[in-house]
Formats: sequence, C-alpha cells, structure tokens
Amino acid sequence: MEIVIQPTAAAATTLAARLFVKAIRQKPACVLGLATGSTPLALYRELIALNLDWRNVTTFNLDEYVGLSPEHSQSYYRFMQETLFQHVTIDKRNIHIPDGLAEDILKFCADYETRIVEAGGIDIQLLGIGTDGHIGFNEPTSSLASRTRLKTLTPQTRRDNARFFGSEDEVPHHCITMGIGTILDARQCVLLAFGKNKAHAVADAVEGAVRAMNPASALQMHPNMTVFLDEDAASELRLADYYRWVYENKPERAD
Ligand code: GLP
Repeated sequence: MEIVIQPTAAAATTLAARLFVKAIRQKPACVLGLATGSTPLALYRELIALNLDWRNVTTFNLDEYVGLSPEHSQSYYRFMQETLFQHVTIDKRNIHIPDGLAEDILKFCADYETRIVEAGGIDIQLLGIGTDGHIGFNEPTSSLASRTRLKTLTPQTRRDNARFFGSEDEVPHHCITMGIGTILDARQCVLLAFGKNKAHAVADAVEGAVRAMNPASALQMHPNMTVFLDEDAASELRLADYYRWVYENKPERAD
C-alpha cells in the first residue's frame, strides 16, 4: 500500500487524477471503477477539464441506493450524470451503475459481476471511505470476499449521508454495492480521503488489522493500492513521517 500525504485535498486530488489520466491515455478502451460522494468531485472536475477521449472508456460504479429512481436528486445515477458523464465524450452504452429499481436484485447483482468480467475487468478503481471504514457501501462486518449484492446501511452511514437528503428519514435503508471481493479484483485501486472526520477510519484501515469491522482494511491485501490523503485525514497515522519520506524519496516517480 502506498500512502501519499499532501498538504491539501486539492494537491492530493491532482496526484490521484494523474493515475486516471494515465489509464485513459495509455489504454483508450480502459475500464474505470467509479465512486460517488463529495470526495471525488474535484477529481472529476480535473478529468473533465482535460478534454480526454472517453469514447472507448467503460465505467462501472460502485453502488446505488435501492428504491431511488435514476431521476431522484440523490440517486448515484444522477450524481454521475451531473458531475461527470454529461461533460465527457463517454458512450452511454459503456456506463454501468447499479439499478436501484431492479425488480430482481439478486439477478441484477449476478449480471453486474458478469458484465465486469465481460468488459475485461476493472483497470483502476476509485474509492472513498465512510467514517465507519466502508468502501462502496460495504458496511462493517461485510465479508471480505463479498461480491455485488444487496446491503443494509448502518445508522452511522445514514446519518452521514443525511446531509444530501432533506432529513435522515429520507435516506434509504438499502443499497446495491460491489463487494469487497469485486473491488479487490480491480488491477489497481486508488482511495481518496480528506478531512479530520476520516482520520480514524483511515488509520484503522491502513495500520490496523485486516478485519471485516473496517472493510477498507481489506485493501491491505491489494498489490497495487494507493491512498491519497490531506494532512487532516492523515492525522492519526502512526507512521505518517515514514510515508512522507518514502514518497519524497521514491527512486522512480510514477507520476
Ligand atoms: C458513500 C458512498 C461511498 C463514499 C462515502 C464517503 O456512502 N457509498 O462510496 O466513499 O459515502 O462519502 P464522502 O466522500 O461524501 O465523504
């Protein structure tokens, strides 16, 4: 796991964005795993500003709320359209987002896994982290081998995400999310976390034991994993100075 600590979220975002630019430029038909939430917004803005060629890019989103139509103001479908897809040259047929209104959720989830495989697997997966350590919507105690499935949100996640809805009562209880096993199958993973409220989950995921109580800790098992943090999100890391030194003294800079 590579830990990159930057003075600001903007600086960390720019470095993370470079990995996605590289993926798209080196492999025009690459497969991107995408995330929602406030954390990746600036990264999407950076990608849009570069006017990259998205015509052959395929995307798979991590998750979606169950029961929200694509038009709902808080659906992740709408989030992705408004923050990224409407602004790039992607072919609509290459966009995949879990369907929160799927009638047969079990079948939908199995098909989603198949579609990822048929697309050739995810080349680079973008991730945020919940304050409880969730990735996608894999809440604590999710199986570390889980695949795309129906999950129930924890009260903490519903409280955290209430800020986007009118009230906590309006936050759905259920979601469809790629599993931790699905995420670990991506060839490369990139996790972004900013702000003090993420510091505990980040330290626990990076330096704690690999365990289902912190789903992001499973990323310790991934062979090509980079974590981009601002100083606040890095503030509880015991080995922060070591990570800084490692990054600043990399023999061959990847960026
Ligand atoms: C949601 C999403 C996650 C995201 C997390 C953090 O629950 N399902 O994919 O990482 O929130 O969101 P934010 O970036 O807004 O802190």
